[in-house]
Amino acid sequence: MIIRDAQFVVSNTDYRKCPQDGKPEYAFIGRSNVGKSSLINMLTNRKGLAMTSSKPGKTQLINHFIINDEWYLVDLPGYGYAQRGKEGRDQIRKIIDSYIINRAELTCLFLLLDCRHEPQQIDIEFMNWLGEEGVPFVIVFTKIDKLSKGALKKNMEAYTDTLKETWEEIPPIFYSSAEHRLGADEILGYIEQINKS
Ligand code: GTP
Ligand code: MG
Repeated sequence: MIIRDAQFVVSNTDYRKCPQDGKPEYAFIGRSNVGKSSLINMLTNRKGLAMTSSKPGKTQLINHFIINDEWYLVDLPGYGYAQRGKEGRDQIRKIIDSYIINRAELTCLFLLLDCRHEPQQIDIEFMNWLGEEGVPFVIVFTKIDKLSKGALKKNMEAYTDTLKETWEEIPPIFYSSAEHRLGADEILGYIEQINKS
């Protein structure tokens, strides 16, 4: 798919104030610093469209970007940032959870996982919660430029083994590097396929 146009539209803490034009949307979620905002910039080929930072906790709002005037990419705050304190973490989780559960336009959620890490309890629990709520999602392993091919393969096998313990059917898996611009065609192709169906 060719992205001709990508524009920031609006930031919100409340899903009820998000755009009301009924266009389908695709949101990016995962732990703070996993690379959600960077992936949106990579997909749209626009540096700085979504704000990124080397420090976790940069994105704090629900951010809508309109693509080709037809559909939205949505950048969400990350979950689990320890330094925010329990109250701060709970507040962010409320924003994220109510958006995910209530937003009818949410067509598919992209759950980002850092390919360097072993399965983390917080991510596994988040996926289980998505399953319980019946939210369709796919997995994106980010920052693949940080691992050798062998190490990536080993980590991915360990991850899928863990997922198989809970999931009869593992969701589709994508791999990305915002640094080396890898994975955009596959992810955009997937979105295009859903938009057409
Ligand atoms: P929050 O908004 O805090 O939840 O973080 P985020 O998930 O949006 O992460 P963000 O895109 O801001 O990226 C966090 C850091 O990881 C930044 O320093 C990015 O440059 C870096 N980063 C993101 N993606 C990649 C990648 O694919 N490869 C490498 N090497 N670095 C990346
Ligand atoms: Mg962000």
